[in-house]
Amino acid sequence: MDKLEATEAARLAPRGETWRTVADGHKKSVRAIQERARQKRLRYLLYTNLVILAYLGKRLLEGHPVAFGLPHLGADAMLWLFPVILIVMMGGVLLLPLASGRSPHIKFSPEEIGIGFADVRGIDNVLEEVTRTLQIFLTYKSFRDELGGNPRRGILFEGRPGTGKTHLAKAMAAEAGVPFFFVSAPAFPSMWHGMTAMKIRRFFKTLKKAARKHGGAIGFIEEIDAVGASRGGGVDASTEYGGGASSVLRMVSPGSEGMVNELLVQLQSFDSPLLGGRIRNWFVDIANLLMRPEHRFKKSPPDYSNVLIVGATNRAEALDAALLRPGRFDRTLYFDLPSRSGRRELIDYFLTRRAHTAEMDREDLREELASMTLGYSPAMLEHVLDEALVWSIRDGRRALTWRDVQQARLSEEIGLAQPVAYTERERRLIATHEAGHATAAYLCAKERKLEVLSIIKRRQALGLLAHSDLEERFTKTKSELESTLKVALAGMAAEEIFFGESGTGPSSDLAAATALVAQMVGLYGMGDSLVSYDAVNNGGHSAPNIVAKVLSTDAGKNEVDGILKSHKDQIAYLIEINRHLVEALRDALIDHEELLGDEILSVLRKAGAAHPNRHPVTAGA
Ligand SMILES: Nc1ncnc2c1ncn2[C@@H]1O[C@H](COP(=O)(O)OP(=O)(O)OP(=O)(O)O)[C@@H](O)[C@H]1O
Ligand SMILES: [Mg+2]
Repeated sequence: MDKLEATEAARLAPRGETWRTVADGHKKSVRAIQERARQKRLRYLLYTNLVILAYLGKRLLEGHPVAFGLPHLGADAMLWLFPVILIVMMGGVLLLPLASGRSPHIKFSPEEIGIGFADVRGIDNVLEEVTRTLQIFLTYKSFRDELGGNPRRGILFEGRPGTGKTHLAKAMAAEAGVPFFFVSAPAFPSMWHGMTAMKIRRFFKTLKKAARKHGGAIGFIEEIDAVGASRGGGVDASTEYGGGASSVLRMVSPGSEGMVNELLVQLQSFDSPLLGGRIRNWFVDIANLLMRPEHRFKKSPPDYSNVLIVGATNRAEALDAALLRPGRFDRTLYFDLPSRSGRRELIDYFLTRRAHTAEMDREDLREELASMTLGYSPAMLEHVLDEALVWSIRDGRRALTWRDVQQARLSEEIGLAQPVAYTERERRLIATHEAGHATAAYLCAKERKLEVLSIIKRRQALGLLAHSDLEERFTKTKSELESTLKVALAGMAAEEIFFGESGTGPSSDLAAATALVAQMVGLYGMGDSLVSYDAVNNGGHSAPNIVAKVLSTDAGKNEVDGILKSHKDQIAYLIEINRHLVEALRDALIDHEELLGDEILSVLRKAGAAHPNRHPVTAGA
């Protein structure tokens, strides 16, 4: 059983479907086509060589064998050789545009690809649909001839960058055992008139030819929006500027319409007869002119090419609607960012190939990494682990550790650490500020996990507290939002308590807190009123965001201000009575600059133990 069958059998087994039996029979038909084509090539080679060998043998027997060597040019060669070379070169220059009409694809044979479905992780729903499409692709003969259906011709992969569209398409071709033709759509446009359409035509012609030879072919068009963008793309502009704009746009990009049209035509022209059939049909047409209708000859049926086109794009909404109709790209598969369990699977997969310490095999750390990387695409996850390897090599080690992964994640998300020298007072102030945030998160936000606490400068941030949800969540309660708010305001409160006044540090905290409260008041009905500011529709293209809508009214602004102040007072009180926790974290930060998850907790626990009479007072105080 090969990999595809194994994957599919395992997936379908519980549902009692018989994919293996179906695939067995029809993969054989694909193999039979490949075998026939191979034998044909061998015969062709043999016959042509036989003719040449027979000719050479005949000359030998006749006593004047063929002499091999350079032709003798004669004494006057210098007179005519130069003009001939010049004419050939000029001909070459004139034919240059024709050469630029070649299809810009790169061909991969299935053995070259080197990845299969087993290497596609964490996107099971998409994989399932793709397997189904592939099943029909492989069984096209019975699907068409016995069941009467039209096999799927095109599928569109839509999704953010790095979500595995190209990766999966390659795996598909490898699993199907047919050649894979990769083309990047921006390579189609040509500077020569008419050559763009010719390149598209040649790409499809190559596919059809390969499909006949190998029993199928998969064409992959990367960034298909570059050729398939909506025709007459100036619709919006024309409404705004009164119709004239669309003709202006057309003048600016005269090629794009032609490209879509050519693509539409080509996607439908898979079934034209082969050259031999076309010549026969031509004769049949002429002969039929002389025949009575009931005696007319039958024409050759069109030749079905088992071609599957996969288009990939980051924005399917930009594509021309005609491309998405059934029969062309009739199925759109959306590549979402992986879920937590998907990320865990990807982490396991990526780590199997990367040198790592035994610590990274710990179940809890891998789970933690999966939960920390919410919003990461598979490509980002892979990149973080690669970066972690770089960190370990920089340190003279040859395996990545948990700390390397954290460093890599921080530089990926926030930016590289910038070694700046703070003054002693500034260092203390920043450490106090961050310790305030962390203490508040520890005391009020039990559902948050403390990940990193740092006073190392990264881009705009002088220090940071990274915290994430313990579990992947899609909604938040009011009390959770309030505790997030308290965490945001805790830095400012800590500065005021320990230094008597706050500095410029809390500006971004205040911006985040204001935006959060504005949403609570104007969007979620968590303030005094249930009125949604989001229902206000000013029309036009530049509608203000919810924060602007709430803050533009006096009532809204006053309410936001009131909520901010009351939460700041609450958190200031909490910090005042838990000063020992802030102090402990501050001192640890000044010593170590950066603390990771468990280190933060152990500092806090030790500080709590050192003040047995001062148990932490939690939220609501
Ligand atoms: N599901 C997955 N399983 C394993 N590796 C993956 C997966 N998805 C992506 N990768 C890794 O991420 C890399 C980038 O993915 P890919 O090139 O397929 O992204 P893409 O969706 O085509 O992005 P773009 O839209 O930018 O073209 C792949 O080379 C592969 O190593
Ligand atoms: Mg891609």
